[in-house]
Amino acid sequence: MKPALIQQKEYVKKILKSRYYNKSSTESITTFKSANIALIKYWGKRCDILNLPLVSSLSYSMNGYGSRLEISLNKEKDIIIFNDNILNLNDRKAKRIIDFLDIFRLEGEYFFIKTNNNIPTAAGLASSASGFASISNGLNLLKNWKATNKELSLLARLGSGSAARSFIEGSLVYWDCGTKEDGLDSFAESMDIIPDFHMAVIIIQDKEKKILSRDAMKISLMDHEKREKWKNEQAQDLEQAINALKHKNFEEFGSIVEQNSTKFHNLLFNSKPKIIYDTDKTIIMKEKIKSFRKSGLPIYFTQDAGANIKVIFPQDSLARVQKLLDINKVQYFIV
Ligand code: PMV
Repeated sequence: MKPALIQQKEYVKKILKSRYYNKSSTESITTFKSANIALIKYWGKRCDILNLPLVSSLSYSMNGYGSRLEISLNKEKDIIIFNDNILNLNDRKAKRIIDFLDIFRLEGEYFFIKTNNNIPTAAGLASSASGFASISNGLNLLKNWKATNKELSLLARLGSGSAARSFIEGSLVYWDCGTKEDGLDSFAESMDIIPDFHMAVIIIQDKEKKILSRDAMKISLMDHEKREKWKNEQAQDLEQAINALKHKNFEEFGSIVEQNSTKFHNLLFNSKPKIIYDTDKTIIMKEKIKSFRKSGLPIYFTQDAGANIKVIFPQDSLARVQKLLDINKVQYFIV
C-alpha cells in the first residue's frame, strides 16, 4: 500500500473510529448533494496528502444544483457510471473516484456507483464538490456511520477540497484552513448570516477544463513569495468580506468578492506556464457586468477554474438582472 494511502486511512480511522469497520449494507443507497461556489477562494494546499488548504474560504450553496448518486456493493470490481456513461476504470475521472473509495474500502469490497450532475461537469462549476460530497454521504449511508456534517466535511475534503463545503444547504459556508498537522481542525461550517442576495450562474461553455485545479494550484503557488502574499491577502479579504456581510453592506461585499476572483486569475496568469481559464466570451461577459454596474445595478462577478461566470446581486434586483441577461441572450440559471 502506498504511504499516502496509509496516512489517509489513519486519518479517516481517527474520525470514524470503530465505525470505519462497519460492513456495507446490501441495499442500494441514493443521495444528493449540492455544489457550492467560492466567493472568497480556496486555492493552495498546506498538505497534499490530507488535502489541507493553505487558506480559509467562504462559499455559497447552490441549493438543488449538484450531484445525485446511487451506490451499492458490487462483486469483484468497481463500476462507475458518470452522467450515463460507464467509465473505463483507467479514465482520469474514474481513477480519482477509485482513489477516494480506496481510503474507505474494507478488504474485498467493491462498489457500484452511478452519478448524475444537473450542472455542467468540470467547467469551473464545482461539480467535484458535489460529486465527492455525495460519494461521502453515500458511503455514510451504506456503512451506517451516522456521521455528522463536520465529520462528512472532514472526510469529503480528501476527494476534493471544495467538497468539504457541500454539506450545508441554503447558506453561506465558512471553511477554516486550520493549523493542525493531523487535519482534524479543517472542516466547513454554516455561517450564522443569512445571504440576502442571489447568484446567477452564467454558462459560457460546458466543456471540461484542460488544467485540473490541483495541478494549477501547484504551478501558480510554486514561488514562495507569491504563496506568502496570496496567503496573507486571502486572510484580509476574508475578514473584510465577513465584516461587510455582518454590516449588510452588499456593495462592499460584492466588490471584495470580485477583487478576490480577479486577484486569483491574475495569480494564474502570472505563473509559469501561464494558466488562463478565460475564453473570449468570458472576457466580454465580465466587461458587460462592469457596465451593468456602471448603469447603477449592484452586480458583481466571480470566476473559478473554468470559463463560466457567476454573479451575485441583491434579491430586489432579480427582475432587472433577469431582463438584462435575457436581452443580452445569456444562458444562465438563478440559485
Ligand atoms: O476542490 P478543488 O480541488 O476542485 O478546488 C476548487 C478551487 C476553486 O473552485 C477555484 C475555488 C474554491 O474555493 O472552490
